[in-house]
Amino acid sequence: MITDVRGFDISDVKLDVQAYYFQEGDHDSPSKRRTAGIDADEDDMPQLRVTMLPSRSLNGAWDSLVFDDPIPSRLLKFMTRMMTLFRNPAINSSVINWNRLMLLHGPPGTGKSTLAKALAQKLTIRLGKHFTQGKLVEINAQAVLSKWFGESSKLVGRMFDAVLALAEEETTLVCLVIDEVETLTSSREKASNSNECGDAVRATNQVLTALDQLRHRQNVIVICTSNLIETIDVAFLDRVDIKQFVPCPRAEAIFDIFRSSINELIRCELLVPSPDPKDVVVWHPRVPMKVHYEHAWETDACWRKEFAEAKFIFPLHVTITNLNHRPNSPSRRVLRAAKRCVGLSGRTLRRLPFLALAMYTDREPCKVYEGLAALSRAIDVELKKNEPMQERIKDSYVDEKDMEEEELEEDGERPYTPTVQHPYYDMTNS
Ligand SMILES: Nc1ncnc2c1ncn2[C@@H]1O[C@H](COP(=O)(O)OP(=O)(O)OP(=O)(O)O)[C@@H](O)[C@H]1O
Ligand SMILES: [Mg+2]
Repeated sequence: MITDVRGFDISDVKLDVQAYYFQEGDHDSPSKRRTAGIDADEDDMPQLRVTMLPSRSLNGAWDSLVFDDPIPSRLLKFMTRMMTLFRNPAINSSVINWNRLMLLHGPPGTGKSTLAKALAQKLTIRLGKHFTQGKLVEINAQAVLSKWFGESSKLVGRMFDAVLALAEEETTLVCLVIDEVETLTSSREKASNSNECGDAVRATNQVLTALDQLRHRQNVIVICTSNLIETIDVAFLDRVDIKQFVPCPRAEAIFDIFRSSINELIRCELLVPSPDPKDVVVWHPRVPMKVHYEHAWETDACWRKEFAEAKFIFPLHVTITNLNHRPNSPSRRVLRAAKRCVGLSGRTLRRLPFLALAMYTDREPCKVYEGLAALSRAIDVELKKNEPMQERIKDSYVDEKDMEEEELEEDGERPYTPTVQHPYYDMTNS
């Protein structure tokens, strides 16, 4: 019997259930551009993209992001609350200043654009009782300046007019996402000091004016991303309600990114667990040491459930607490790999396991331990590419080698004491 079941008293819980269905179809269809109030021909405004929300194409984006701190849920909670509070018709918007403008900034590849769109999707769902539909409007700021050099401010004006037209329907939630916003809002002070052309200055002016207009639309949220916040105009930054730094992941989050990627490769059978001792995942005292994944899968219902939930690489808390006597288990090796990768972007980390498979293995399907060896090689190469990190890499190599040798010496000899009680453990002991 499971004794330690923690839960909530249903009378203490306020349930908030949202039902929704995904909008099919995708970006950029001409009909959607017409809805945006743009009558010109197809290529007229490729910098603006409209997607109906909640969109199937964004399903899973929220869950795919891993952060050490609960940044996404904090932002979602805050935005939902603010949008709900501001629906109070008694609020005088001249007295209470709130632009519904958020800026996600941080190093490249840390998930800012993905988070911006995932937030738009989640907000549409959360605010479903106030809005009948949602629209994600994406502005590609880079394309505005590069394609329309000299005409940028005019184009910016037209794009924001289109957004205003979309927002006319008050029951539509419009989530405007501006990627690389520094391109459209570069510092006017710096530009005038360096005698740069007036095009960028005019574009910045235009954006500021447009934001002041959008501010009066209760149904518009603007989410911007940037990895060059220091070049953004101060007047724009002053209008931002929430500035959120999105950092590179730390070891814990890196472990989760690797874990989900490797488990996915196993699910797709590009990596297969083998009877080789290097793929042994035993971590429970009641299970014979050499029982390997497939055997356990076939013979033991409890293990089957465990593996189905944990997949092959176990969650971090299990890896740390229950596998400390098994340094060579796949989960522990992934943890060691994660510790070496601190400083790499989420984008690089998501790519590494698959890249490793393509570059450093030569047959299919590949055993898990071979895949992990390939991952280790790919990490070596990735770290070496990054010159400023060389010193840190050297240090961490020493640490890792020492740690590995130390652990290998002790492997099998250390007494095993589970620090986290496991459902399987509880069930078999009662
Ligand atoms: N924290 C993270 N967790 C999981 N995956 C991540 C994370 N950060 C980035 N990724 C992966 O990297 C890909 C690219 O992320 P995204 O384009 O959102 O980054 P970005 O911060 O906008 O980069 P840039 O500054 O270069 O525009 C995502 O699709 C995702 O697969
Ligand atoms: Mg981006």
